Amino acid sequence: TFVVTEACIQCKYTDCVSVCPMDCFFEGPNFLVINPDECIDCSICVAECPVGAIVSDQEIPGDQRHFLEINRDLSQDPRYRRISKAKEPMPDHEKWAGVKDKLGLLGY
Ligand code: SF4
Ligand code: F3S
Repeated sequence: TFVVTEACIQCKYTDCVSVCPMDCFFEGPNFLVINPDECIDCSICVAECPVGAIVSDQEIPGDQRHFLEINRDLSQDPRYRRISKAKEPMPDHEKWAGVKDKLGLLGY
C-alpha cells in the first residue's frame, strides 16, 4: 500500500485525490490519509503530491514508519471523510511545506 506521511500535515494540497482510481483518500481537518485496505498500489498519486508526502509502505523512511498505522487508523475514523475531488490547499501551505515534526499538529 501507499501511505500519506508528515509533509501533508497543514498543507493538504489534495492534488492526489482526483487521480486515485479507488477513491481511497480520506480527509481530516489538516491531513489526508489513504485506506491501506483499499489502495491497489497503482502509485499514480505519488507524483501528484508537490511535497512528496506519499510513499510506499515498503519505502517509508524510518522516522515516518508510524504513519502506516496512522493511515490505517484515521481512514476508519468517523471524523475523516472520503475525498475524491481536489480543493484549495490549506491557507498557510507554503509556510508549512518545509517544516518538520508536524505530527503534534495533527488534527483529528
Ligand atoms: Fe489510490 Fe493508487 Fe495512490 Fe493507492 S497508489 S492511493 S490506489 S492512486
Ligand atoms: Fe497531502 Fe500531498 Fe495529497 S500534501 S493532500 S498528500 S497532494
